[in-house]
Amino acid sequence: MTYAFGGPEEYHGKDMWKAHEKLARGQGLNDNHFNIIVKHLVGALQKFNVPEVIFQKQSQMCSR
Ligand code: HEM
Repeated sequence: MTYAFGGPEEYHGKDMWKAHEKLARGQGLNDNHFNIIVKHLVGALQKFNVPEVIFQKQSQMCSR
């Protein structure tokens, strides 16, 4: 999240598919779950009046 919001930390971990592959293949994790998280996140950002340009970038990164 810090990385997605332009913070000093850089993310060098697995891409989102690799990180969640076991869960997707074995436990039914799917796009809906990710979309729900992004929806809640965007809702929270809107509630606190975070400029749209910032959270658009953030949700693009989460959907990779
Ligand atoms: C926008 C949504 C999400 C983001 C950005 C995200 C991000 C991440 C990241 C960065 C990791 C660590 C990857 C690594 O080991 O390098 C991770 C792992 C994990 N995530 Fe997510 N995640 C999201 C949604 C979810 C959801 C919906 C679930 C389950 C309901 C979930 C469950 C987990 C679990 C259990 C791990 C550990 C997997 C393992 O080590 O085998 N994540 N996630």
